[in-house]
Amino acid sequence: MHRNPKYILAIDHGTTSTRAVLFDHDRHIVSIARKEGSVFYPEPGWVEQDAESIWLDTIAVMAEVLHKARLQPDQVAAIGISNQRETTVLWDRRTGLPVHNAIVWQSRQTSDICDRWKEQGYEDEVREKTGLRIDPYFSASKIAWLLENVPGVREQAENGDLLFGTMDTWLVWKLTGGDRHITDVSNASRTLLCDIGKLAWDEDLLKKFDIPRQILPEIVPTSQVYGSTAPYMFFGSQVPICSMVGDQQAALFGQLCLEKGMAKNTYGTGGFLLMNTGNEIVRSKNGLLSTVAWKIGDEVTYALEGSVFVSGSIMKWMRDELQLFEDVKETAQMAERAATTAGVYILPAFVGLGAPYWDDKAKAAIVGLTLGTGRDQLVRAALESMAYQVRDVLNAMEADAGIPIQVLKVDGGAAANDFLLQFQSDLCQLEVDRFKVNELTALGAAFLAGLAIGFWKREDLDIEVRRRFIPGRSKEEMDSRYQDWQQAVNACQAFKP
Ligand code: G3P
Repeated sequence: MHRNPKYILAIDHGTTSTRAVLFDHDRHIVSIARKEGSVFYPEPGWVEQDAESIWLDTIAVMAEVLHKARLQPDQVAAIGISNQRETTVLWDRRTGLPVHNAIVWQSRQTSDICDRWKEQGYEDEVREKTGLRIDPYFSASKIAWLLENVPGVREQAENGDLLFGTMDTWLVWKLTGGDRHITDVSNASRTLLCDIGKLAWDEDLLKKFDIPRQILPEIVPTSQVYGSTAPYMFFGSQVPICSMVGDQQAALFGQLCLEKGMAKNTYGTGGFLLMNTGNEIVRSKNGLLSTVAWKIGDEVTYALEGSVFVSGSIMKWMRDELQLFEDVKETAQMAERAATTAGVYILPAFVGLGAPYWDDKAKAAIVGLTLGTGRDQLVRAALESMAYQVRDVLNAMEADAGIPIQVLKVDGGAAANDFLLQFQSDLCQLEVDRFKVNELTALGAAFLAGLAIGFWKREDLDIEVRRRFIPGRSKEEMDSRYQDWQQAVNACQAFKP
């Protein structure tokens, strides 16, 4: 072992890409490696990924990040992991091979199972225990789908031959050479199977959903030494793995929203606004979720969350499917050039609608087109849709929490887009802060890992604002635009072919 390991290696596995980021003690990024992952759409509304490729991408970015920094693996003091949440994989505990593709959080393929559970009257109990709602978004119906649809899987699961995991669990199981089958509380709280008051799997829900208890991982805190990498999995070294955390909770931590009432928004594949609610579970009356933010030692922190299913991924769709531009970096300029959308609104309900509408049958739509609509207007309407959805969720959050949000702290890929952040500030009439480091999800996982081994203390955690966007347009103008957006949402929701 290297005498004085000086770096924290964060793995940030998101839906669209897997990154490895090395931080030094001053919280500076030493190097980054990134790989874009593949996503499959086997049927309309279905979204799947290959878990084995996710593992291979993870190990590849870990190798690359060390190579770029000219570091040896034993110079890493700890590994922290943040991950896309809810995405579900079942694998054979002996071979380590998945029995099917991972079913991604965005997938609607379990809509019928959810309808059935709603008809059976489980909704209130689910809400009370898990803080969530019955929706294909969460892991439980994805597990049920695999048990019902993949031949032989139910039997293997009953026999104790299979393991379930979200991506945190899968990666830690792989990195430890199959030694640890664990999930942290933030990830467990997204499965629809965890009682978030007790932080334990709920036997009653397991019975109702017919999910065998033995496939589930052990629930652990968010920041702790869980075990070490198996040398044959991590370039000959045993490095402690010290945090696992859902990416949105990681971003909340990375943005240092550590006090009750502090909130952040991440423009990732989806858009996620979270508010720290301290050690209290706040129940939403406005279509938000109650979730676990993290558990450090014995202290549990909760959050209110507005999950928007499509945010940055609309830009990927416009780039790859419509070929409106080659690089997302062009889009801020295109939007500025358009000056307005000229009445065009895009409702990106490609996988139904999440918070605050929760309409899993809604379909995406573009309204207000004329023969004069060009690619610049479409790109601008897409960027604006990301901001409108944040306002939808922000309104709900302020109503639930009873406190107005003064400053919106943002991160995620699309937070690099100046047009989007200025429009967001105008639309919500509040200040929007972008930080110097944009890898705040990775930083959150790194902070949590560093705290577990005393690499950092709470007082060492710090981040710097790089730019503050201030409202530049009138409230009246923006309110009227927002009303048009709401009309567009209503029209699209009414259309159910
Ligand atoms: O709940 C889904 C979320 O964790 C996905 O995150 O980064 O892939 O948008 P991301």
